[in-house]
Amino acid sequence: MNKKLVDAINEQIKYEFFSAFLYLAMASYASELEMTGFEAWLKAQAAEEQFHATKFIDYLHERNERALVKGFEDPKNDYTSLLEAFEDGLAHEKIVTSRINNLMKIALEDNDYATANFLNWYVNEQVEEEASFTTVINKLKMVGSSPMGLYQLDKELGGRQGFTPSTGAGQ
Ligand SMILES: [Fe+2]
Ligand SMILES: [Fe+2]
Repeated sequence: MNKKLVDAINEQIKYEFFSAFLYLAMASYASELEMTGFEAWLKAQAAEEQFHATKFIDYLHERNERALVKGFEDPKNDYTSLLEAFEDGLAHEKIVTSRINNLMKIALEDNDYATANFLNWYVNEQVEEEASFTTVINKLKMVGSSPMGLYQLDKELGGRQGFTPSTGAGQ
């Protein structure tokens, strides 16, 4: 594989793990608010991100390339509201989308159609990721500061389908 592409995927592996840490930090904030449904939703989101990272690692191994596991800085841990956390989450997902698009660009420039095909999964996944954060943001805005509304929304998010890392089902 093209070294530039391998290096860029290795950077993305780091970013996917960072996403998991970011959502775990948000889950911890939700737990502090006794919002156990939000906490469960964010933990499931973190598990998905870990799956995204290991899927990249497995792909590099499949192509006989070296996958690297790198460190990163602390994610943001302090939030003033759940709305702020989810707005940060959406902004983060939009950055991830542009990063995935950039990987696709490098793969196509190199005529690496196998990698482009593999990356297609992430392109579709990012549409879902942005949509799911947007949905929660819209619901949070609808509910506003209504305790009953927040209670109901927390209950609804707690019902998020479990994630099966081996298949990626339930994301
Ligand atoms: Fe991801
Ligand atoms: Fe994501």
